[in-house]
Amino acid sequence: MSILFQTASSIVAGTGSFGTVAGHIRSQLGPVKRALLVTSPSIRRNGLAEALRVQLDNAGIASALLEDDIRPEPEAGDIEAMHAKLGGEAFDVYIGLGGGSVLDATKLLAALAKNDKPLTSMLGIDNIENDGVPTVLIPTTSGTGSEVTPNAIVTIPERQLKIGIVSRRLYPKLAVLDPELTLTLPKAVTAATGMDAFTHALESFIGRKANPISDMFALESIRLISGSIVEAYENGSSIAARSAMLYGSAYGGMALAASGTAAVHALAYPLGGRFGIAHGVANAMLLPHVMEAQLGAVAGRFTLVAEAIRQGTGAATGRSNDEGAEAEWALARIAEWTQWVGIPQNLAEYGVTEADLPSLAEGASQVKRLMDNNPKAFSLGELEQIYRKLLPAAGI
Ligand SMILES: NC(=O)c1ccc[n+]([C@@H]2O[C@H](COP(=O)([O-])OP(=O)(O)OC[C@H]3O[C@@H](n4cnc5c(N)ncnc54)[C@H](O)[C@@H]3O)[C@@H](O)[C@H]2O)c1
Ligand SMILES: [Fe+2]
Repeated sequence: MSILFQTASSIVAGTGSFGTVAGHIRSQLGPVKRALLVTSPSIRRNGLAEALRVQLDNAGIASALLEDDIRPEPEAGDIEAMHAKLGGEAFDVYIGLGGGSVLDATKLLAALAKNDKPLTSMLGIDNIENDGVPTVLIPTTSGTGSEVTPNAIVTIPERQLKIGIVSRRLYPKLAVLDPELTLTLPKAVTAATGMDAFTHALESFIGRKANPISDMFALESIRLISGSIVEAYENGSSIAARSAMLYGSAYGGMALAASGTAAVHALAYPLGGRFGIAHGVANAMLLPHVMEAQLGAVAGRFTLVAEAIRQGTGAATGRSNDEGAEAEWALARIAEWTQWVGIPQNLAEYGVTEADLPSLAEGASQVKRLMDNNPKAFSLGELEQIYRKLLPAAGI
């Protein structure tokens, strides 16, 4: 097997990195005169966008703030409308400062600036013709790892699905990992985005495309997130927990870039596309149930996951020599975290009913890019059964 591993061209990491962005843009990107800053309301409110503009200004880089804020889980049409409003204005760099929604939108706006095509023509793998404007991506959630991946996900309302655009042309020139930016994350976002990051690592590790490079990042991501997700949720001001989560998220993204996600994400896409359930929430709800449904197919790999969780959480005792027992132990820990960090457990809260399950299963099965990477081939009936586990009123 020949493995191609690519990621962001440069990564700056550590507390205080945010204060060095302008300097790194200068040294990594050369003569930059004008920057477009893409962000979201929460980031404007806490003053980060303005602080970055002042920093850029002091370094002689003029900046414009994208007039419209990016809303969570953007639709392809939202991004195209923003691109149209920019009216072809030229920038040397696009800077994304925010959660995955902002980072993905920044990547796509940068691609649209150099590719005069509808976003729907770019769906799938390697369908972007020209390099976009260079990007700098600064995550403020510890979740998507978008700052190091070739992916951007858009909601396509006509198809009631979220769909990935995957292209080497979406890798940023610079990723900036500063855990201080994540200190303001509300509990529910910490929980959902953190479980999303864990899912990237886990699915990349048990997926068919797993390889030695993705394994290294995935196991370290699992170790870091296992040891910090509950602490980050309960004590959001812990910079140690926030740091571990941010590195865990970036490593999860690198694992994903080298391997790929699988059935959990495929089942999450119709929940996002049709019922508007946030990406991290949908993944976190599904994760234990998808893993339970395929534990037999992945028990060998899961013993290694168990070992990484033991290292992360310090749970040294009670280790079993039995592969199945260790896999069960790891699954129980994952299910336990979703409860501890308050992940919703009932799809009925979002308006999903039993009657929706066949079409949801059909939608998930259409996400071939991810289903093909899953270790077990699920039938439509099995997919429905997984969704049904999240409708406790159905008496299951
Ligand atoms: N590109 C990839 O590889 C990849 C991987 C997974 C998911 N995604 C996509 O990313 C999107 C989800 O991104 P996300 O999970 O990071 O959530 P998000 O970007 O939608 O943010 C969630 C909420 O948290 C707020 N927020 C962000 N940072 C904050 C901070 N520091 N303090 C306070 N509030 C803050 C946002 O404004 C928003 O309201 C989805 O569209 C998903 O499909 C992309
Ligand atoms: Fe994800």
